[in-house]
Amino acid sequence: MTLLITAGPTREPLDPVRYLSNQSSGKMGYAVAAAAAQEGLRVILISGPTNLDIPDGVDYIPVETAQEMYQAVQSWIGKCEIAIFAAAVADFRAANYAEQKIKKDPAQDTLTLELVKNVDILGSVRKDFGYTGLLVGFAAETENVLANARAKLLRKDCDLILANDVSNKEIGFNSDQNALHLITAEKEESLGQHSKEHLGKLIIQKCVKYREDQD
Ligand code: PMT
Repeated sequence: MTLLITAGPTREPLDPVRYLSNQSSGKMGYAVAAAAAQEGLRVILISGPTNLDIPDGVDYIPVETAQEMYQAVQSWIGKCEIAIFAAAVADFRAANYAEQKIKKDPAQDTLTLELVKNVDILGSVRKDFGYTGLLVGFAAETENVLANARAKLLRKDCDLILANDVSNKEIGFNSDQNALHLITAEKEESLGQHSKEHLGKLIIQKCVKYREDQD
């Protein structure tokens, strides 16, 4: 069985030395990738820039921007039975990349950047790539966590959504622990607060069981 996982942040360049990004460390996605490889799955890890070691036994596809992540997912997803989207993809990129470093204008106290929406990679998987395998998204929420996550489950046509409350600094972005709720069309279940390594193992167990129950 082959699993695709996206992890880490994307980086959207503004000029040759600056970019837009976020605080994703990649720890959550890498923990899922490591757990899947330990269970004997073939793992395609599509990752934005992180400082983490690549888990043993995974096929590693490094990317920087949302557009590169989209293309990597498009290339690989047809070979996978399970796809899990843990990456924190930047929702916007610069409308116009500046070929030269953006200069300060001494006469201006403000600078306005025009941003354009990035492609929704997870939201493209069913309708544009025709993917029919198990589709698992994450939902990073700061309010109405379960209701917002359930709306994402439907909007992005996922089988499962893993919701985390990223307003809490102890869990979520760039922490060693997380607390996840697993949401399907039929039910909601707390996976509790644990190390990301432990949650990675639980996620893989839940995905494999979900597939067995569907057969
Ligand atoms: O990397 P860590 O520091 O360990 O932090 C882990 C995490 C908080 C990043 C992770 O647990 C998490 O919540 N990942 C999803 C972050 C996110 O961007 O969530 P979202 O609710 O904005 O997006 C919903 C889903 O759509 C996610 O599966 C996301 O990967 C996907 N998405 C979003 C936007 C986009 N343009 N393309 C996407 O594929």
